[in-house]
Amino acid sequence: MSPVSDSTNRVIPGPQEPEEKTYHPSDGLFTDAHVPDFDAYLALYKKSTEEPEEFWADVAQEFYWKKPASGPMLQYNFDVNKGNIYIKFMEGAKTNICYNVLDRNVHERNLGEKVAYYWEGNSPDHHQTITYNQLLRNVCRCANALKLLGVKKGDRVAIYLPMIPELVYTMLACARIGAVHSIVFAGFSSESLCERIMDAQCNILVTADGVYRGDKLINLKKIASEALERCKESMALCVQKCVVVKHHAFRTSSDASNKLQTPWDESCDIWWDDLMDGVSDKCEPEWMDSEDPLFILYTSGSTGKPKGVVHTVTGYMLYTSLTFKYVFDYHHDDVYWCTADIGWITGHSYITYGPLANGATSVLFEGVPVYPHVGRLWEIIEKYGVSKFYTAPTAIRLLMKYGREPLQRYDLSSLRVLGTVGEPINPEAWLWYYDVVGQQRCPVIDTFWQTETGGHVLTPLPAATPLKPGSATCPFFGVQPAILNEHGEEVEGEAEGYLVFRKPWPGIMRGVYGNQERFESTYFRKFPGYYVTGDGCRRDKDGYYWITGRIDDMLNVSGHLLSTAEVEAALSEHPSVAEAAVVSRPHAVKGECLYCFVTLKDHKEFNRSLMEELKRKVREKIGPIATPDFIQNAPGLPKTRSGKIMRRVLRQIARNEKDLGDLSTLADPKVVEVLFSQRCEAAA
Ligand code: WTA
Repeated sequence: MSPVSDSTNRVIPGPQEPEEKTYHPSDGLFTDAHVPDFDAYLALYKKSTEEPEEFWADVAQEFYWKKPASGPMLQYNFDVNKGNIYIKFMEGAKTNICYNVLDRNVHERNLGEKVAYYWEGNSPDHHQTITYNQLLRNVCRCANALKLLGVKKGDRVAIYLPMIPELVYTMLACARIGAVHSIVFAGFSSESLCERIMDAQCNILVTADGVYRGDKLINLKKIASEALERCKESMALCVQKCVVVKHHAFRTSSDASNKLQTPWDESCDIWWDDLMDGVSDKCEPEWMDSEDPLFILYTSGSTGKPKGVVHTVTGYMLYTSLTFKYVFDYHHDDVYWCTADIGWITGHSYITYGPLANGATSVLFEGVPVYPHVGRLWEIIEKYGVSKFYTAPTAIRLLMKYGREPLQRYDLSSLRVLGTVGEPINPEAWLWYYDVVGQQRCPVIDTFWQTETGGHVLTPLPAATPLKPGSATCPFFGVQPAILNEHGEEVEGEAEGYLVFRKPWPGIMRGVYGNQERFESTYFRKFPGYYVTGDGCRRDKDGYYWITGRIDDMLNVSGHLLSTAEVEAALSEHPSVAEAAVVSRPHAVKGECLYCFVTLKDHKEFNRSLMEELKRKVREKIGPIATPDFIQNAPGLPKTRSGKIMRRVLRQIARNEKDLGDLSTLADPKVVEVLFSQRCEAAA
């Protein structure tokens, strides 16, 4: 089904409510856009869903195949009642993703001297330029070195590295020799790293001695060694070699090497430089079957134990490449920058594979947005002339707090497209991004997707899609969303409920590593026949999709389905509010009610009249049904290191449940104590 509201397959932009103003900043700006207008989008979308074989065969032609596909493009079962869940794309074809994103650029497209990455370190004094030629040579050297350590096709390699070029070299080296990379975000604890190494039975770990994050020195090797100790204690030592990048040697800071005690185990540890010494920079790729695994990436699950999401070679390659091209309207003179960490799916798909498949030039940034000053991101945009910029709503809200002044010091006129990802973006942050960062020139592309989806699934296209602040708008090519009610029935037209997908697209996950049962029960059992995202969603009269937050963040107040994200957006509009998080709390009469945590801007006072104003705001924005019962002043919110608010913890605080379980993924666990000590007993 297309993302439309009437039988002629057109989005009718009916009369707009003031808060539903539609933005079309790209008018006249994108003369060479890949998808120039909404009709062109609808036509391509129609082809992708009605003739998927032809659509994907056209996309596949862009790539190199050692052996072409002979059978059907796509085979799958989404219905647990009909047997095992599986998805296969171009099964039997043989290729190599590393060859496609590097050798093809160098040898077929003549891009060897083009910059693949501008690496920008944590300190503005550290930077490096890496061309496609250099990238290919470094990847081959690393691939050969891994082979020397005995790594073979199918082996799992754990990577625990900061945002340095070696991270990209290692992941692509794995892909080149058919090893499966399992990247663990370098902000995770030793316990989390150990758990992931053991689950995937990795036999190699690649890490670094240490890293600065802002002005904080982190002894990565120490954490890595502790993780390996833990694995040993569990009698599950599978790691035979730990390769250590000497990141500090590269830094000027002699104080870092003084402060840093690098634990060393002669039988296991080996310096990266020693390993690469004298190794050839040519390496024949391992020709992989389309459905051979490419990587495992862990994502948190509702039970607390992370799930190893598995992606395979061909589908992921085609999908990340195609989404990158269309969603950022990529052109060869672009300088693209995604601020995510490669330790998350956004970095896998849109720093490494998608941009490289297109021969793009990207910024690879090691630092944090406010170090050494709050204008760092804007400074980097000016420095490299960034044209396409992709970041998270949490970063936007953080930077909003400092006002316009830090941006006014830099020339941001190179920007053409602004993207966001990771959580629903509240209209206030959207408008700030649009007005202040993009100077009303650049479309804000709100991309909805998941670790599991591999790439964007709901997203505007820069020149084609009229924008509504807070809406991820329409499905990408090949993606068929539906909204289900509690009974698993599809609801049509304007509706709210569970966001599901009817059919696979090439980039969807293929399983949970070593756990088919968990794969099926998490994503397919609730509503047989559909992939269940776990997100709530509303479709408006124009057929636009609005993600309302995780289903577990949905609440039912007096029989009305409400989303916490909607209430948060309303609270965030109040001029005193910096950030808000809303969870449900059981209520004797209404079933559930709203418990709100509100972080105020500097120098704002939390008092009764503010509480009344906030309640009024929510009533005005959503209706009396959404009036908060509890509003707590929250000096800080419990967040993961990637900036996601941990609602589970907030729910438990709201409910006064003291047993909080595993808090190891929290950036700052102390926040929790503070919130507990100040929780609201009585309704506001
Ligand atoms: C949320 C990140 C609203 C959503 C790529 C999803 C979003 C989860 C958006 C996946 C968006 C991501 N609007 N919500 N544009 N993007 N989400 O696996 O709840 O880290 O299910 O993947 O983030 O998070 P993950």
